[in-house]
Amino acid sequence: MGNDISKEKVIVIDFGGQYNQLVARRVRECNVYCEIYSYRTDIEQIKAMKPMGIILTGGPNSCYEEGAPTYTKELFELGIPVLGLCYGAQLMMHVLGGKVEKAPVREYGKTEVFVNTASPLFTDVSEKTICWMSHFDYISKIAPGFSIVAHTADCPVAAAENREKNLYAIQFHPEVLHTQEGTKMLRNFVRGVCGCAGTWRMDSFVENSIKTIREKVGDGKVLCALSGGVDSSVAAVMLAKAIGEQLTCVFVDHGLLRKNEGDEVEAVFGPDGPYKLNFIRVNAQERFYSKLAGVEEPERKRKIIGEEFIRVFEEEAKKIGAVDFLVQGTIYPDVVESGLGGESAVIKSHHNVGGLPDCVDFKEIIEPLRDLFKDEVRKAGLELGIPEHLVFRQPFPGPGLGIRIIGEVTAEKVRIVQDADAIYREEIAKAGLDRNIGQYFAALTNMRSVGVMGDERTYDYAVALRAVNTIDFMTAEAAEIPFEVLQTVMSRIINEVRGVNRVFYDLTSKPPGTIEFE
Ligand code: XMP
Repeated sequence: MGNDISKEKVIVIDFGGQYNQLVARRVRECNVYCEIYSYRTDIEQIKAMKPMGIILTGGPNSCYEEGAPTYTKELFELGIPVLGLCYGAQLMMHVLGGKVEKAPVREYGKTEVFVNTASPLFTDVSEKTICWMSHFDYISKIAPGFSIVAHTADCPVAAAENREKNLYAIQFHPEVLHTQEGTKMLRNFVRGVCGCAGTWRMDSFVENSIKTIREKVGDGKVLCALSGGVDSSVAAVMLAKAIGEQLTCVFVDHGLLRKNEGDEVEAVFGPDGPYKLNFIRVNAQERFYSKLAGVEEPERKRKIIGEEFIRVFEEEAKKIGAVDFLVQGTIYPDVVESGLGGESAVIKSHHNVGGLPDCVDFKEIIEPLRDLFKDEVRKAGLELGIPEHLVFRQPFPGPGLGIRIIGEVTAEKVRIVQDADAIYREEIAKAGLDRNIGQYFAALTNMRSVGVMGDERTYDYAVALRAVNTIDFMTAEAAEIPFEVLQTVMSRIINEVRGVNRVFYDLTSKPPGTIEFE
């Protein structure tokens, strides 16, 4: 998939802000295609992409400090509209001759902002609106040619514009949902100021992808890594529609799947399912367990699982004969979070991207969903006619239960977490909460503690229950599950799952926690 998937493109230049992906997602919600690039990206490369607009993200630095991320002044002279957000706004002022200083009052949280609704940025926005502020520096003097179009009680320049040059700066974060009219402001920028018509739609994405895949593959043979999760299922069906029997799907049961999941996947994608794929199931449980024996370090576990996956595929490929392409269900957040896209620190190397060894024995990798956010993958899935219960199934990480078992993975621990998780899911469904919670699962801590059962002292594991509400999986809040439901789950797990004598509920939001435990 080249980058030319939409003619209308807005570029987000990332200065290390925590909300970089949110900016891109919000822009796409306005039906404008958007990609994230590091501030280190050369201006020539940016120019070559012919963006309709450029958005500069926030970031953790002070733009007046030596060595702080910056961008050449030329960026503001291309005639392409630029919107700076937070750090991006300060940088724009700094580079163009304004002044940024440490703020006398640090603003953080929901803040009342007064906007000039005559600015194209604030068309249809209320004069007094709530925004999300997070800054310790402020714009003390705007650059020549700019005028102030918003302020707060503590911040004299909450937004500024140079309308003639199409340059806009916003001190707050319109991409965060706490900014009540934020999407409207971004829409005003991309649709109004940049003049994008808004042609980015899932049906055309699916149609174009199928066409591109067909052209790329020709009469080649394709092997697809099918995990049964949303991403790889959507990728597999897209490929099946594009090239039919040239596609072979290999489903590796690595022994780290949820209870009964292997059979469920086979029921859908196997010979008796609705899709006529070439389907091969490899039962490789023992192989993965022995590779993981004694390994405790999370990144090491991810790498091992990822590499072993590839090995199994290589072996299958040899059996099948020459294979030209390998399909992976990588999605855009995987790319960005693995440090290959924007500027954010590598938080976790998602196995789809980070764990891929150099010696892959295929000509090329096809990643049809590489440019999509999760909600867009789901839309693509529906577009492809995949049943809703599959499209809206919970996300499940590639390394599976391997990263829901803290520390060493053993067959026994897998059994414990599978059984506990099955009970948890059953009770959540019984309580009618399964569609309301973004993601929920049981994990196994490596803590053992003393308990008492009957008249016996026990020394067993603690299971942790996780349930989060999230829109984009970049930020998340612990879900409020009724106490009775949690209690039922707790007593069922302790009574029914051998080896567990304690159950915790994880209250941590993301950030600072992550959704998974490793
Ligand atoms: P975290 O733990 O990073 O998870 O907050 C965010 C979302 O990503 C899923 N996840 C993964 N998905 N390979 C995947 O395909 C992985 O290695 C991986 N790690 C986390 C996680 O389940 C959540 O939905």
